[in-house]
Amino acid sequence: MSLRQAALTVRENAYVPYSRYKVGAALRTPDGQIFVGCNVENVANPEGTSAEAGANAAMVAAGQTEIAEAYVIADAARPVPPCGGCRQKLAEFAKGGTRVTLATTDGVEEPVTVAELLPGAFDASHMDRT
Ligand code: THU
Repeated sequence: MSLRQAALTVRENAYVPYSRYKVGAALRTPDGQIFVGCNVENVANPEGTSAEAGANAAMVAAGQTEIAEAYVIADAARPVPPCGGCRQKLAEFAKGGTRVTLATTDGVEEPVTVAELLPGAFDASHMDRT
């Protein structure tokens, strides 16, 4: 299955009674497995989770810790830009050059890299004194 199809399909399951904005995310790991997530909102707003966070968690729960490619889709006029927290979550498991495709259900696709999404990312090397 393509990442696009996986993201489109999981998007249907998004739980979005508050925003009505369904998002689907799909991640492929180097071994070819695909992990998906959708946004899950909550009446206590900050408890809601983004599609990317769900896909990330599914990947790690399955024992995988490397994102080879990611795809995020929403029904919007323009491709959905991941929020800051999601950019950091993707960066945790991806290389700077890893492709993330931002897409609309109408078929618009905007490929970007993780480094473009999160320039100047904080990473583990910043905690080194030397
Ligand atoms: N949302 C995502 O799940 N991923 C994104 O990349 C952008 C926004 C969700 C969060 C919330 O449920 C809804 O979209 C609108 O804020």
